[in-house]
Amino acid sequence: GTPASPSAQLVTLSIDGFAVTVPAGTSVMRAAAEAGIAIPKLCATDSMQAIGSCRLCLVEIDGMRGTPASCTTPVADGMIVHTQSDTVRQLRRGVMELYVSDHPRDLLTSPANGLDDVQTMAAAVGLREVRYTPGANHVAPCGADGQANPLFRAPDTSNPYFTYDPALCIVCMRCVRACDDIQGTFALTVEGRGFDSRIVAGQDQPFLTSDCVSCGACVQACPTGSLLENTVAEIGTPERSIITTCAYCGVGCSFEAQ
Ligand code: FES
Repeated sequence: GTPASPSAQLVTLSIDGFAVTVPAGTSVMRAAAEAGIAIPKLCATDSMQAIGSCRLCLVEIDGMRGTPASCTTPVADGMIVHTQSDTVRQLRRGVMELYVSDHPRDLLTSPANGLDDVQTMAAAVGLREVRYTPGANHVAPCGADGQANPLFRAPDTSNPYFTYDPALCIVCMRCVRACDDIQGTFALTVEGRGFDSRIVAGQDQPFLTSDCVSCGACVQACPTGSLLENTVAEIGTPERSIITTCAYCGVGCSFEAQ
């Protein structure tokens, strides 16, 4: 997914040597997609405003300092973009290395389960090894010394339809944006900083007793399986699914039927 293109005025730029013409205001990521170039991403989607939180989609742009996130950078006429330079490839591997180091599963050797975009992206950017100590930070209630682990958060199983496991969360905020921008419920937010940052419902309370209406928008938006339907956890991903529109009211919410 890539952020939408809001204008009818056209601009032409070069991406990895290909000339691309797109509406002004289009993100570099979407322009690249138009040229058939898939830039790695974790937090951007087609349906939500990009916020550039995962830092995986970094690119180099001639004349521009640093390595901007392609999902939040708008195109400009004559812009020259490099999505596969040594610098950005190395940076992306570094970003993925940090995500993988703080993941409860060994994503580089365990079989793919189809639920975790972190694993998919680790392979996509060519990450082969992790130099950091595996982060059991969020997984064990106690450390090796028997002391309580202050970073441990038990999975929230209060909702009968889905479970939230903070250990799998990368705080990309896709769920928060789905709850706010798509559903308009505003039930989720981010609490804490650094390793302790996590998604919370309401006033850091169980999902079931919060303002969550169990619509499932957050579960559908989650790229890691941190928010996971209980049926998927029990019987696996469906062999096929269709996108349908709920006929209950006039809003027209779309959801995936399996
Ligand atoms: Fe651009 Fe996450 S996809 S920062």
